[in-house]
This record gives sequence, structure tokens and C-alpha cells, in this order.
Amino acid sequence: MAPSVKEALTRGRQILRRAGVPEAAVDAEVLLAHVLATDRLALYRDEQRTLSPREWTLFRDLLARRARREPVAYLTGRKEFMGLTFAVNRAVLIPRPETELLVERALTLLSGREAPVVVDVGTGCGAVAVSLAHYHPGAEIYATDISDAALTVARENAARHGLAHRVCFYCGDLLAPVAFLAGRVDLVVANLPYVPSGELACLPPDVRDYEPRAALDGGPNGLAPHRRLVPQAASTLRAGGILLAEVGPGQGRVLADLLVAAGWRRTRVILDYGGRERVVEAVRQ
Ligand SMILES: C[S@@+](CC[C@H](N)C(=O)[O-])C[C@H]1O[C@@H](n2cnc3c(N)ncnc32)[C@H](O)[C@@H]1O
Repeated sequence: MAPSVKEALTRGRQILRRAGVPEAAVDAEVLLAHVLATDRLALYRDEQRTLSPREWTLFRDLLARRARREPVAYLTGRKEFMGLTFAVNRAVLIPRPETELLVERALTLLSGREAPVVVDVGTGCGAVAVSLAHYHPGAEIYATDISDAALTVARENAARHGLAHRVCFYCGDLLAPVAFLAGRVDLVVANLPYVPSGELACLPPDVRDYEPRAALDGGPNGLAPHRRLVPQAASTLRAGGILLAEVGPGQGRVLADLLVAAGWRRTRVILDYGGRERVVEAVRQ
């Protein structure tokens, strides 16, 4: 017989704990709330409600997948970012809270500009591009990705936020698809892959076994895409235009030095709330 909400939660926590899932209690709540199309708090208001046999089967299936470390966001099909809800699937990286720093810095740099032209390189599910369009109503946004499947998700996210007319998506390598914008872009934002290839095997299983390799693998030292991006960004940006790139631990200074050597000005490394190098900013000559 199908259990009550309270019993289902207890069973869910046990299953996930036994499988070694770190946030077992929260994950069980999120998954049950997803199955019941409600929120986590409501589960506790309605603890005695009995699940239907179909709900119980669905919940057990999700628990089994989570126990195999499939990320919760792929199981529910959505993820919150910058206060907005984004659709996600296995074609895209799940947007990370750390990347909100990149968006917040971009919005600070764009404030006071009425109609800035912005390119988001490696847009994935469109989290950065769509957030910028949402919070800066005047910005003209272009977004690229090497993955057609990722762009399908990004287009869906722009549409679900009523922003399809504000963000133009292009498939291709880095800034190549937006070469027609040369010299007129105010800001290039990039959260490209930056995990060194040799470290991919050490990532947590949730990431390593489920998220797209093309969204993670940054080549031998993690900065291979960025090395190619720097000269392309120099051609795309106008004089005085800004490049903002997210990086991984220990990569900030390396990318900043590369930019200084290439003649970029006012290069700085921005730390995240945990004190780690997270975003590199530089101004084109
Ligand atoms: C780390 S994910 C970031 C996704 C999204 N910007 C975010 O912050 O959630 C990197 C994205 O860059 C894309 N990508 C990788 N290499 C690329 C390239 N050479 N040109 C364009 N996009 C690329 C991947 O397909 C992936 O969607």
C-alpha cells in the first residue's frame, strides 16, 4: 500500500542516506514535492495525506535515480538562478550559484547604459543571457554555444521568461557566429568549460557522470577555451569594452596575466564569497 507523505519522506531519507547522498533529507523533500507538484513546506502541512500508488511509484523511481547520483535538477527538470527558474536537461550544465557573481558584476558594469550590446559565450541553458535580459530591460543580448541541444534549452528558457525577442541565439565556436558584431559590443560574458582534462575523473559523480563533458572540459590546464577567446573578444568588443570570464580555483591570475600580456587594461580578479578566484575582468584597449 502507498504510504503517507510523512512515511514516504522517512523512507526517502533512508534510501538516499544509505546510498551516501550528501543532502539526503533535502533531496528527499525536493523530489517528493516535485512528484506532488507542491513545495517543501506544504509537505509538512499535509503529512498524513496518503500518496496515490502512481505518486509512490514515481517517487521511488526518482529516489533510485538520485541514489545513483543523478543530479536533483535533472530529475525535476529545473533550477533556480538569479531568482528565476530555468528548465534544464542533460544537454546543459546545471547553472551554479557561483555564476551569479558573474551576472551581478555584469549588471553593475551595465548600469547607467541604456542599450548596451552584450554577448554571452557558452550560454548553456541560457541562465546568464536570460538573467541579463530580465534585469537590464534595455540590453541587446546575443548568446552562443557549440551545442545545438543546449541552445534548444536556452531558447525555451528565453521564451518562458517572455524574453525570446531580446536574446538572439547562435550555434558555433566561441564568438565566431557573432563576427558581424565586430567592434560594437560593450560586454562579453563567458562561463566556458574550465576543469583541467586531467581532473575530470576526480569530480563528484553527480557532475562527472551526468553533466555534459563539453560543458566541463577546459583542456590540459583548464584555460584552453579562454586562450582562444581572448583574441576573438578583442575583435568583438569596441575600444573600452569589457570582458568578464568565470574561472576555476587558481586560474584567475593565470588568465589575468595572459590578458595583460595581450595589452588589455584594468585587469582584475574578483573573488567569490568563499574567497576563491572566480571572475576575471579586463578592458579592451
Ligand atoms: C560551463 S558551461 C556554462 C553554461 C552557462 N553559461 C552557465 O553558466 O550555466 C559551458 C558552456 O560552453 C559551451 N561551450 C564549450 N565549448 C564551446 C565553444 N568552443 N564555443 C561555444 N560554446 C562552447 C558548452 O556547450 C556549455 O554549454
